[in-house]
Amino acid sequence: MLKLAVLASGRGSNFKALADASRRENSGFEIALLVSDHSDAGALDIAEQLSIPHLHLDPEHFASRREFETELVSHFSHAGIGLIALAGYMRLAGKTLLRAFPGRIINIHPSLLPSFPGLEAQKQALNYGVRVSGCTVHFVDSGMDTGPIILQRSVPVLCSDTVSSLSERILVEEHRAYPEAVSLIASGRVGLNGRTVMIQKEGLK
Ligand code: GRF
Repeated sequence: MLKLAVLASGRGSNFKALADASRRENSGFEIALLVSDHSDAGALDIAEQLSIPHLHLDPEHFASRREFETELVSHFSHAGIGLIALAGYMRLAGKTLLRAFPGRIINIHPSLLPSFPGLEAQKQALNYGVRVSGCTVHFVDSGMDTGPIILQRSVPVLCSDTVSSLSERILVEEHRAYPEAVSLIASGRVGLNGRTVMIQKEGLK
């Protein structure tokens, strides 16, 4: 059983979707730890309600990103974590984290990357005028939403859309895509070799 850690800064709806999926038969993973860098993150309340081990670590209490991530890595190692899922985590992964978990950190982003990386992806998509958007699950590298893509799900962008209506439509797909990606990795059907995503037969459709 793959032990997953989730890093979240806010609301935590993707964390909740992962937690619900992990409890289904044959998911292949369990959430062993939720860490938030914000004490008031909704994700911490969800973890409490679901009795999932959770922790608030305040980066301000550390002298550097290296020290903060060294502490994170020590919690992950202690909990036997095999994969880390960033879910609305508002920080870039630094060298310490990336080196400790090479090819074992993933992220979800609310656009079809490489279009619209960074903040307010849904607003960027609306402003640009694209007719299709969606979400992307990808392996994390040192860039902003630049790592190798695992899977994507698309949604239409309607003429009547606001940032909020488009975000809601994308979020429905996020909640399907993220657990699917974690299960694919847990079963060994998807993995990373250098910057190439390896997909085994019967992995992605
Ligand atoms: C999601 O849209 C995710 O794609 C992005 O941040 C948002 C987090 O939402 N990275 P939640 O905290 O999971 O509800």
